[in-house]
Amino acid sequence: MILVTTAGKVGAEAARLLARRGQPVRLLVRDPAKAAALAEAGVDVAAGDLTAPDTIDAAMRGVSTVILVSPAVPGHEIGVIDSAARHAVSHVVKITSKASADSPIPRRRDQTRIEDALIASGLGYTLLRNNAYSQNLLMLAPSVARTSSFGSAAGDGRIGMVDSRDVAAVAAEIAVAPGAHAGRTYWPSGPAAVTYGEAAAEISRVIGRPVTYHPLTFEQQKQDMVDVGVPDHIAAMNAQAVSLFAEGDSDWVTDDVPSILGRPARSVRDFVTDHADAFR
Ligand SMILES: NC(=O)c1ccc[n+]([C@@H]2O[C@H](COP(=O)([O-])OP(=O)(O)OC[C@H]3O[C@@H](n4cnc5c(N)ncnc54)[C@H](OP(=O)(O)O)[C@@H]3O)[C@@H](O)[C@H]2O)c1
Repeated sequence: MILVTTAGKVGAEAARLLARRGQPVRLLVRDPAKAAALAEAGVDVAAGDLTAPDTIDAAMRGVSTVILVSPAVPGHEIGVIDSAARHAVSHVVKITSKASADSPIPRRRDQTRIEDALIASGLGYTLLRNNAYSQNLLMLAPSVARTSSFGSAAGDGRIGMVDSRDVAAVAAEIAVAPGAHAGRTYWPSGPAAVTYGEAAAEISRVIGRPVTYHPLTFEQQKQDMVDVGVPDHIAAMNAQAVSLFAEGDSDWVTDDVPSILGRPARSVRDFVTDHADAFR
């Protein structure tokens, strides 16, 4: 049994892909009603909460491999790692980012704490240090739909955006046969590093009208996120990450996705084409 720890972008898709392959897969969710379609597709939906250790232990029964993905609060994910160790789980695929102990971004420092705890646990593990998700472009979609323009503090920085559906596919692939990936760290990215200006051109092409991109300051970027309901401290972290794009922080590309999946990684063009309605 493979346990997927949350039903967000990566977790829900990983569970769907595993069920489609006929793999026994369990998905921990706070609200099972939200996962009704996945239950229908054959996923064993377990009601639980990463803040409630007893629900993690209950979901861990009979599990051999865990796909550890969540908003990466260290106490929550380390609780999952501890539970996995108690339940003789053999492998954990950890969804992470550009983790580093001295990152200016608190979430990346938290990811380091979690990665370190996983490595120290003695469990088999694989780290997926993903580049920024193409799905972040969806946050810009309401502005594109309303004003045919969007702004960002990313400047002209290039970003090797990876589609979170590909991250899920990579995690699922590794979870099915973890042996060859034990102790490995991968850096999943898309096929090319693109600027937000180039993303605007892709959106224009797909929706058939000009879309313009304008630079924002850090403060404007943060305020835009707060305005759509993102909590202040998360907005600050996200705006910080976007500002780092401008400095080339995400200007990297690897062939980890195609080499693990045996097919090309989805491009920004693929992503925008698949989500054209949101931008229209
Ligand atoms: N976004 C990026 O560009 C990016 C890039 C690289 C790496 N990452 C990493 O990707 C991970 C996030 O993955 P994601 O994008 O798939 O997440 P996501 O789409 O933001 O979804 C988060 C999920 O976690 C669930 N959740 C939150 N708290 C929970 C709790 N206490 N118990 C159970 N479930 C809980 C939420 O459930 P509800 O529906 O109940 O709220 C939601 O389904 C993080 O580690 C992040 O650092 C992100």
